[in-house]
Amino acid sequence: MSPLSSQRRRIVVGVGGGIAAYKACGVIRHFTEAGDDVRVVPTESALQFVGRATFEALSGNPVHTGVFADVPEVPHVRLGQEADLVVVAPATADLLARVAAGRADDLLTATLLTARCPVVFAPAMHTEMWEHPATVENVATLRRRGVTVIEPASGRLTGKDTGPGRLPEPDEIAAIAELLAERGDALPRSLDGRRLVISAGGTREPLDPVRFLGNRSSGKQGYALARVAAQRGAEVTLISGYTADLAPPSAVSVVSVRTAQEMQSAVREAAARADAVVMAAAVADFRPATVATSKIKKGADEPDTVPLTRNDDILAGLVAARAEGDLPADLVIVGFAAETGDENGDVLTHARAKLERKKCDLLVVNAVGEGKAFEMDVNDGWILSADGSETALEHGSKALMASRVLDAVTPLLTPTIGRPAADGECTNTGSSH
Ligand code: CTP
Repeated sequence: MSPLSSQRRRIVVGVGGGIAAYKACGVIRHFTEAGDDVRVVPTESALQFVGRATFEALSGNPVHTGVFADVPEVPHVRLGQEADLVVVAPATADLLARVAAGRADDLLTATLLTARCPVVFAPAMHTEMWEHPATVENVATLRRRGVTVIEPASGRLTGKDTGPGRLPEPDEIAAIAELLAERGDALPRSLDGRRLVISAGGTREPLDPVRFLGNRSSGKQGYALARVAAQRGAEVTLISGYTADLAPPSAVSVVSVRTAQEMQSAVREAAARADAVVMAAAVADFRPATVATSKIKKGADEPDTVPLTRNDDILAGLVAARAEGDLPADLVIVGFAAETGDENGDVLTHARAKLERKKCDLLVVNAVGEGKAFEMDVNDGWILSADGSETALEHGSKALMASRVLDAVTPLLTPTIGRPAADGECTNTGSSH
């Protein structure tokens, strides 16, 4: 093996026999384009939906379904042992059942029994099958064993049905799989049954019907937080301002807003029922004091200046409402700070002062500037806590950063045992770590 090829990640893409098998092609392409060595292992029934030639052409590797091909290579053991990541998409109800039972009756299930790397299943099936107690138990068994089972998306299924059970889009599956590869372990279900409100993107403050004051926020960090929180079991409301061209994460409710004032009312309404609010949005601090009803023209009447008025600080407002009893006392409130150093202090000095001013529970700090944070796919920074602790966030993807932020939020949540549920009953599920 050449030094270059020894650095290539070995990815196994398992494909179950469902109509969504065609989406596996997008997942395979994601990894081949990343330069990975991809082995596709379909079940026999997956080949009823997508032909072997397609998987071989896309992966550049031979494709087998049984354990009796290439016997001298012992593929049923080697593929799993050598894999850096296994992604199964779609995972059918039958495949989940066979894996949960520890079966090894084809190459894919044998590979899954020998894999010791992160494993992610993206289920796809009819809602009845997904909600059947047998499948629910199989999924719980797999998750307990450290496998990540992605929440399916809701939407149109085969035929006329709609509901949860749809395979998320290939980019969504790939984003979650990449996070697992980066973390090196499964996503903990530490937010099961929790309600999170996450704001993302930038607001636009209108000046006239065609112009606005805006900012460069891409929304990527907030969307990554929403995606990861949902996959950790939370019920997520994503309050989204304007973003780059981002697809809504699956299994997340999205509320679209335009201005800081719209974001404020959407956040306040959702916060009343939430366990935690994470303000990742870049909210405009100011808006034009008046909005012209028709387009402002060049010429004699053009304004020399644009008077501005201050928008409310949504984050500070949440903290104040909690203190006044208008929001639950145990609501966890997380702010973000994009900082640059200057003659008055470095990034951390400014961030500590901001935490002191805003009085939120956690402040996630990004250093910004040329080539940092805004519009980028990677981030680094710190998490400052109201208790004075400071945690450096390792450099990594925005999904990894999201995961670390949620790791910090989890211990601040009130344990769920004995806590009144939203419908007035007591829960007894524990905090489900
Ligand atoms: N934020 C908010 N409402 C605003 C402005 C900001 O809720 N009107 C939130 C952001 O979502 C973020 C945090 O406050 O979580 C920090 O935002 P930032 O703009 O860095 O803080 P400012 O108070 O505006 O500080 P600065 O003076 O540095 O601009």
